[in-house]
Amino acid sequence: MYENNFSEPQPGAESKRAGLNRSDFPILQTTVNGKPLVYFDNAATSQKPVQVLEAIQHYYTALNSNIHRGAHYLANAATEAYENSRTYIAECLGAKAAEIQFVRGTTEAVNLLAYSWAMNELKPGDEIVISGMEHHANIVPWQMACIKTGAVLKVIPVNESGELDMDAAEKIIGPACKLLALVYVSNALGTINPVTELISLAKKQGALVFLDGAQAVPHLKINLSELGCDFFAFSGHKVYGPTGIGVLWGKAALLNQMPPFMGGGEMIKEVSFERSTYNEVPYRFEAGTPHIEGGIVLGTAMKYLYENVGIDTAAAAENALLQYATEALLEIPGIELLGRAKHKTGVISFNASAIHPYDLGVLLDRQGIAVRTGHHCCQPLMKRFGLEGTCRASFSFYNSFEEVDLFIAALHRSLKMLS
Ligand code: ALA
Repeated sequence: MYENNFSEPQPGAESKRAGLNRSDFPILQTTVNGKPLVYFDNAATSQKPVQVLEAIQHYYTALNSNIHRGAHYLANAATEAYENSRTYIAECLGAKAAEIQFVRGTTEAVNLLAYSWAMNELKPGDEIVISGMEHHANIVPWQMACIKTGAVLKVIPVNESGELDMDAAEKIIGPACKLLALVYVSNALGTINPVTELISLAKKQGALVFLDGAQAVPHLKINLSELGCDFFAFSGHKVYGPTGIGVLWGKAALLNQMPPFMGGGEMIKEVSFERSTYNEVPYRFEAGTPHIEGGIVLGTAMKYLYENVGIDTAAAAENALLQYATEALLEIPGIELLGRAKHKTGVISFNASAIHPYDLGVLLDRQGIAVRTGHHCCQPLMKRFGLEGTCRASFSFYNSFEEVDLFIAALHRSLKMLS
């Protein structure tokens, strides 16, 4: 997607080599076993800048109150901050505020859709199409919906490069398809899927489309009013915000027809012992006291990414790291990369001959390098490649070329120890 320009020094290239905005992230000063921490587990969760840490403290020292409920000063101030955050997040994503539902994260969003939409709408023989590179969170809830309704789960296969087989996709997304539930960017491979093309295949069949945007929002500019999907979700902690907060976006007309996933306060219009009526979006799916601090601070985190760093600047820096690290890894005998898609974010999955990924991960950790090891919640994808798991290095804009050099040197040392 982005041109690799690391080999031709540009003005400002020094700071790019050194990582962007590193001083905003106190945790990056950590040492591990006497070595500087090299944090390459950003696809699992991102680190938090001081702006986010301060916003959390500010919420509890200056705003803490329940929202949408009280007439007092703090209740109004907290409500305003929460709703302003919703509006800001909507603006970042080209959406309307009412279509942004705060949820715990992408996993909750998929479950919400499986319970509120799929379990009510699907009948025996209907099809849900997913892909062979889905995270378990975009497989298991749909399987549960299929068990309940008699619908059938179909899977678009993944080719050797770690891209979706588009010829197969065209055949699999047929007239019985009622929902295409697709990962935008693979957490295990980094592949950026051709979502526009796939959405249009689904739309030709009259199906709805859900995109799992958990690995996309931190790295790609998203415009939900142009993308063409019906539902979209992401997690706050992967975009420099807190854990336990995320977003389900959906078209209001669809969401307002869906029965709520959870009942309780806030999601109602009127309650009697005989029957209750439900509120409209965004409150329809926000039963109970929500994660108020999380909702507010997610806005701060998005603002940090969009205004302090810039989403395109972040993506370009991560892409430069991806190219640099990929070339360095390919020079190491015995290292095999999983996923060589043309369009990728800064994720590299790799294995070293017969060495178990966990053993390699532990040795890297002893040298201060944090990578994820295992199946990355993608067991069917690993099975497709005949693997139990991989080591995965995943980059953020704050990582530096020097950190890649440390990682490569640590990898050489580890391979020597294990051979
Ligand atoms: N889904 C997250 C990952 O890929 C946790 O590591």
